Amino acid sequence: MSAAGPPTGAQHHGALHEGTPARTGARPVTAATPKTIGDVVLEVKNISLAFGGVKALTDISFDVREHEIRAIIGPNGAGKSSMLNCINGVYTPQRGTISFKGQTFSHMDSHQVATMGIARTFQNLALFKGMSVIDNIMTGRNLRIKSNLLLQALRIGPAQREEIRHREFVEHIIDFLQIQAHRKTAVGQLPYGLQKRVDLGRALAMEPQMLLLDEPMAGMNMEEKQDMSRFVLDINDEFGTTVVLIEHDMGVVMDISDRVVVLDYGKKIGDGTPEQVRNNPDVISAYLGTSH
Ligand SMILES: Nc1ncnc2c1ncn2[C@@H]1O[C@H](COP(=O)(O)OP(=O)(O)OP(=O)(O)O)[C@@H](O)[C@H]1O
Ligand SMILES: [Mg+2]
Repeated sequence: MSAAGPPTGAQHHGALHEGTPARTGARPVTAATPKTIGDVVLEVKNISLAFGGVKALTDISFDVREHEIRAIIGPNGAGKSSMLNCINGVYTPQRGTISFKGQTFSHMDSHQVATMGIARTFQNLALFKGMSVIDNIMTGRNLRIKSNLLLQALRIGPAQREEIRHREFVEHIIDFLQIQAHRKTAVGQLPYGLQKRVDLGRALAMEPQMLLLDEPMAGMNMEEKQDMSRFVLDINDEFGTTVVLIEHDMGVVMDISDRVVVLDYGKKIGDGTPEQVRNNPDVISAYLGTSH
């Protein structure tokens, strides 16, 4: 990992929490270098999704550009997780299309989504609590393991060499996320903040081009949030990974995202830079009308 320089990222907005440097050192929670945002990679068009009478999403359109950190915000029940579930094929919308890198789908297939390079973390952790950190992250490599199950089970020949390569890759992620000390620990024994980090590691093990993060900082204290913000920025910076981030902490959203989509009761009520969204009267009233 390269050392971060001064906070020169044009789209970013100062230190996350002034006066309290994060545990990851005195590094500011801002991008290391001004970044280049590319073309549109993901395009969501007129998506509507209902569960019986509940309209979870109504006619939602937005796009995500390559190398962007794109936040989705909104009060509880606004439809944020449902939107990610449509993108990664867990839910099938009744209307609309989703295009990824020029290919258009009326519904996404979960396996195909993963193969195309989209990985996901979950609002409620989906880890194997009894398994070690290393083995949990290894599950993210499954898609990339080529040798057949018999060879793997016997650990012979090419399968053994392949397993060694995957384990090395996983060790690299463990170093990156600074969880070396917990490599062999059962995930269920770790504090919640570290479990969220392992979940991120599992998604990173897929070597995704796009990461969908559903509230990666939920339930964390301020220091843990700073660490997680730093990791998200570093992933975006160093690997060029495009990030779609659902987050309730407005400070985090304002600090690390390039553009923000705002949902409320399944409808899009705002879309723009953090500054534009913050000053949008509809967004302000949606937030004032709720407990956030
Ligand atoms: N599988 C489902 N079956 C029925 N209703 C659902 C389902 N998933 C979501 N919903 C409903 O869709 C609406 C949007 O829910 P969603 O979980 O997408 O909101 P959210 O913005 O992620 O909220 P939160 O901030 O609480 O995580 C809610 O009314 C929710 O009850
Ligand atoms: Mg949610």
